[in-house]
Amino acid sequence: MKSIQSKLDTQLIHAGEPQPRFLGVVCLPIFQTVYYEYTSAGDEQELRFIRLNNTPNHVALYKKLASIENGEAALVFASGMAAIATTLLTILKSGEHFLIQNSLYGGTHSLITHDLPAFGIQYDFFNPADPISWKTKLRPNTRAIYVEMITNPLMQVGELPEVVMFSREHRLISVSDNTFVSLVNYHPLECGFDRSLHLATKYLNGHSDIAPGALVGSQELVAQVKNRLVELTTCKTTPPFNVSTILDYLTAQDIPLPINYSMVLEVSLASNLLEGLRRLKNF
Ligand SMILES: Cc1ncc(COP(=O)(O)O)c(C=O)c1O
Repeated sequence: MKSIQSKLDTQLIHAGEPQPRFLGVVCLPIFQTVYYEYTSAGDEQELRFIRLNNTPNHVALYKKLASIENGEAALVFASGMAAIATTLLTILKSGEHFLIQNSLYGGTHSLITHDLPAFGIQYDFFNPADPISWKTKLRPNTRAIYVEMITNPLMQVGELPEVVMFSREHRLISVSDNTFVSLVNYHPLECGFDRSLHLATKYLNGHSDIAPGALVGSQELVAQVKNRLVELTTCKTTPPFNVSTILDYLTAQDIPLPINYSMVLEVSLASNLLEGLRRLKNF
């Protein structure tokens, strides 16, 4: 445990920081710059432009998030809902179907039940506590499965290892909203999920002053979502100032989060959350 903790401390502080440091500064400055020199002719992917979320601040945050969560790549979005919507609209095409747990954050529920059907995307709810029932929900066009690790607002935790096994068995893309667990306490990708989502309104920042969302996953999956993000016109640019705020918070997060977490454990003694957290720990 000690070695895992010190590795996490090191990742929180150092991962993603540019080497060598710009002009030797210890804190990465905020690059409030729209355009950058275009050095490698011909390769559109090399273009650096603020709308494409690839300033030095963004790149440092992507590397830090991917390192902490043991993913290959990461991406930030202007809000949590932008992260969720862009991810789902990348994974799912018209005529495809996916499974969502029957208790979810209201905004996500509304996106899935009101907006995605307008794009021809079908869904079915499943009971995350009853794996036996899941198979009956599968269709030939089922492509993905979506869960919240700890649900908002009911604080429920489903049979998460079964979700991973089920998605592997049926070749589904598994997506987890890890917001309430945080990237310090739990790493969905290491447990077999394909994508992990976070919000800056909660543990990705926690100061109630910015609202970006983030995605961590494989290089290939994140690249696909990035292309979709560039194509979509709303809610996509995350200002470098906000990105820098998250970087600063993560650097100091090894101290507040364990304290915060132990407070949650105390408060949850009388609720089913404790049982849920126990299950997550053994997962
Ligand atoms: C679990 C969960 N997912 C998604 C969201 C949406 O995030 P945002 O408000 O940043 O768009 C929230 C917001 O509270 C949430 O609690």
